[in-house]
Parts: sequence; structure tokens; C-alpha cells
Amino acid sequence: MEAAKVAIENLTVEYPLGQTSVRALSAVHLALPPGEFCAVVGPSGCGKSTLLRVVAGLQPATHGAVTIQQQNPDTPLQAMVFQGRSVFPWMTVLDNAAYGLRQRGVPQAEREEIAERWLRLVGLGDFLRAWPRQLSEGMRQRVAIVRAFAVDPEVLLMDEPFGALDEQTRLVLQDELLRVWQATNKTVLFVTHSIDEAMILADRIIVLSSRPGRVIADIAVPFPRPRSVEAVRSDPAFGALFLRIWGLLRTETNDLVVAG
Ligand SMILES: Nc1ncnc2c1ncn2[C@@H]1O[C@H](COP(=O)(O)OP(=O)(O)OP(=O)(O)O)[C@@H](O)[C@H]1O
Ligand SMILES: [Mg+2]
Repeated sequence: MEAAKVAIENLTVEYPLGQTSVRALSAVHLALPPGEFCAVVGPSGCGKSTLLRVVAGLQPATHGAVTIQQQNPDTPLQAMVFQGRSVFPWMTVLDNAAYGLRQRGVPQAEREEIAERWLRLVGLGDFLRAWPRQLSEGMRQRVAIVRAFAVDPEVLLMDEPFGALDEQTRLVLQDELLRVWQATNKTVLFVTHSIDEAMILADRIIVLSSRPGRVIADIAVPFPRPRSVEAVRSDPAFGALFLRIWGLLRTETNDLVVAG
């Protein structure tokens, strides 16, 4: 079997809460092969963002471990697109997009060239010198995604990058992400609330239980690649897969309500 690019082994995370603690994740096991697009769905508060932060090295595990196999020591191991606002309001679009490259010491002319190429690819070529406040929410989210792709990380971690967008913008950005990802084939761990977004984008969907998050299903997504939003949504297998995942999540969400 191919070695995992990202190996999450027996991961448990607890947060201190007063005199006690809250367990956010419980014994999560997950191995992502290189180039896999893996989506994680689960009820609110089940530990999805926690999982990404631990994989990103931003937060320690309470038990267990995360290992990422590095292929090229000259490029960053991972880049994260955070949930909610994730561009710097005091930087232009171009500087935001080039930020990760600047952190890595890439000279100005080179980093601006790379950032500009990415911004053009997502339709922001006319806004290089604009400020984030002069963009729509969907355009700002494109900037955040470009910033992550521009550093050419081996693994991309995305936490509900389209969660705050209207449906049309989201469909356009899902298509863009598919296009960009299909050209780069990076390993992606993508958190979303949306079952249909997970089905459109991912090779595999991990369903987490309500808190503490445990893996309750690991589902292969059968739709052929290259994909488009239209092709996946009109696939005859779409409805059955949606219902299967919703069935799992509905049970978990009922538990949430019962547990108060
Ligand atoms: N910084 C923190 N300090 C203490 N507890 C936290 C912290 N961050 C998260 N938690 C707790 O951990 C649990 C999981 O939170 P997390 O943000 O990972 O959930 P999530 O699945 O991303 O939720 P959502 O879908 O609402 O974004 C929550 O119940 C929360 O109480
Ligand atoms: Mg979250």
C-alpha cells in the first residue's frame, strides 16, 4: 500500500474548561494517500476546525499524533484557508496573495509575478491594487484561496472556505477549486458543513459524530474526474449518496438536540 501523505493516528484533543475539560476529538484515525481530496463533514462543534488546526501544527494533540510526509524540503508542507475572514484588511489584494511567499523569503518581483498569475486565474486580474474592503465576500475568499495555493504547499487544509457565501458564488468557486486542484493534484483536507459540496469536490468523505468527534463513516465518492458542479449534481448516484450521508448526520444532530 502507498505510504500515507497525511497520517492521523488515534488523535484525541481536549480543551481545558474551568476545573474540567472538553473533549473535542476522540481517537480519530485517518490516512490520506498523496493527491487525495478528502472532505470532512460533521455537526457543528464536533471538532472539525480542531482537527485541521492540529494537522496544521497550530495546536497540540492531547493523545495520538499527526505525521505529514514531506517530499520537497524547499516548499511549505501545508497551507491553511481559515474559516471566516482570512485576508488582511490592511494589505492590497496582491500583497495578500503574495503574503505566504513573502514569509518564505521569495523576492518581491518573483512573488508578485506568482501571486498575479494566480489572481488572474481566479478572475481577479483587475483588482491587484484593490483593498479587501473594495471586494465582495466571494472575491475576498478567492484571495484567501490564492494565498494558500500560491506557496505551492504539499498539503492544503481548508476550513469551510465557502461557508459564508451565497449559493451561486459558492458554485462558481467550487468549479474554480476543482479546476485548480485538478491541475495541481495536491493532497487536500477540506472541512465543510455542506454534504453536496463534499460530494462535488472530494474523492472521499469522512463523517464525524457529534462532539467528541469520532469517525463514523469513511465513504468513497464515485463520480468520475475531471468533474464539474453540473456533472456531479446530475449524476444518477448523487441523490442516494446524499441521503446516505444525511442519514448519518441527522442521527448525530438528533443526539445533539436530545443532549441539549
Ligand atoms: N480554543 C478553544 N478553547 C476551548 N474549547 C474550544 C476551543 N476551540 C474549540 N473548542 C471546543 O471544541 C469543540 C470543537 O470545536 P471546533 O471549533 O473544532 O468545532 P467545529 O466542528 O469546527 O464546529 P463548527 O462546525 O461550528 O465550525 C467545541 O465544542 C468547542 O467547545
Ligand atoms: Mg469549525
